[in-house]
Amino acid sequence: MNTHDYPQGLLFQPELHKQIRERFCHVDSDPEAGERVFFENAGGSLRLKAVNEAYHEADSYPDCDSRKHPRAKKLRKLTLNGFADLRLMFNAPKYGQIIAETSSSKAMFTMVRTVLENVQGKNVVITDLDHPSVYDSVVYYARRKGMEVRIAKPNKKTGGIDPEHIASLVDKDTALLNCIYASNHTGAVLYIKEIVKQARAKKNDLYIISDAVQHMPHGLVDVQDLQLDGINFAAYKIFGCRGFGAAYISDRLATLDHAGIIGNLGDPWEIGGPAPAMYASISAIVDHVCWIGSHFIDSDDRRALYVEGMERIEMHERALLYHALEGTEEIPGLRHIKNAKVEFDRESLENRDFILPLAFSNISCPDAVTEFVKRDIIVYDRSDSNYYSVRSLHPFDLEGIVRVSPLHCHSTVDVDKFLKASAEIARL
Ligand SMILES: Cc1ncc(COP(=O)(O)O)c(C=O)c1O
Repeated sequence: MNTHDYPQGLLFQPELHKQIRERFCHVDSDPEAGERVFFENAGGSLRLKAVNEAYHEADSYPDCDSRKHPRAKKLRKLTLNGFADLRLMFNAPKYGQIIAETSSSKAMFTMVRTVLENVQGKNVVITDLDHPSVYDSVVYYARRKGMEVRIAKPNKKTGGIDPEHIASLVDKDTALLNCIYASNHTGAVLYIKEIVKQARAKKNDLYIISDAVQHMPHGLVDVQDLQLDGINFAAYKIFGCRGFGAAYISDRLATLDHAGIIGNLGDPWEIGGPAPAMYASISAIVDHVCWIGSHFIDSDDRRALYVEGMERIEMHERALLYHALEGTEEIPGLRHIKNAKVEFDRESLENRDFILPLAFSNISCPDAVTEFVKRDIIVYDRSDSNYYSVRSLHPFDLEGIVRVSPLHCHSTVDVDKFLKASAEIARL
């Protein structure tokens, strides 16, 4: 589909959406707290039932998947399928390698360490929107090499970062550029393709890594198209389990000197035995997106189905975002609620994931979150007292935001409940 054809998004048909919703655990209630609307998916996404089922089934067997008996072979198949599905998600069917870790932060530290220990240079470029897993790994390994850390500043209007500005910090002595894919504070999706193009025009063999943790649940990534050297995500942000982060690394990054099991010639980046259950759960995530895609196209190509499914997810979430901003005649949207302000709001909904930064002029962000909870809406305040937020807020002169982050299993009914609560809070 051409997503440009839907500037205000496109909701799933009600019957399909009902089925999508039924596929998730705890969509509209917590067994103890009761009914609720969970709009805190950027902190950890609602989980697919199929993920839990696949995980528990595979994890119930003790067999080591490198043995030759039938159960072991079945478990090995789950692992290999999961690896193939990770490649499919990144669109790296043949190239590079996959790194699997217990968190996306660890995968990021591994990538940054490998580049900075091997690639000569005098400086590293990162951005103010990058997560501490990028910022801290770069500062740590750059300091060991005596490299300067250059930090790109965000655009106060868009909540993103201009490619020209990032490229202006790159020179022939830059060892690494690290740039977040979509901000976990502003929801802005950065123009990664343009950033790569402009940065490599300054240094054509520049190593470039991106953190796609927040973008993966909402849109596609394609390392073949982007020509990135590294990109990571976390399963628990995309309908999966906590405790698993993965990254794609390019062939040239994969062959840089790094620690590993020397005798493991097949895959030197795999350290220790993989957990088939975790890989089975990754395949369950991919199955889900492909299942959505299969309602719109007829294809045997799993990547094509994944692309279609993810674009449909993106369009549904864009329609929910439009609904949240504009509302209806009966229920005003955020743009029309006195005392409420959507930071970095702009007419176009393109290059914008539904990770919405909200503020109120009558109440602080932490108090607003408490008021939302009283109304059974779960959102999160990102405030500058939090180490994970301060660097992404201060460049915008913000002390905090209320972060609102739904998922494609949510509906306009959920958004209406959230809007009613927002209007009440804005009147306090
Ligand atoms: C943009 C971004 N990168 C990285 C991470 C870290 O993820 P993990 O918990 O898998 O290390 C987060 C977590 O919220 C994030 O939002």
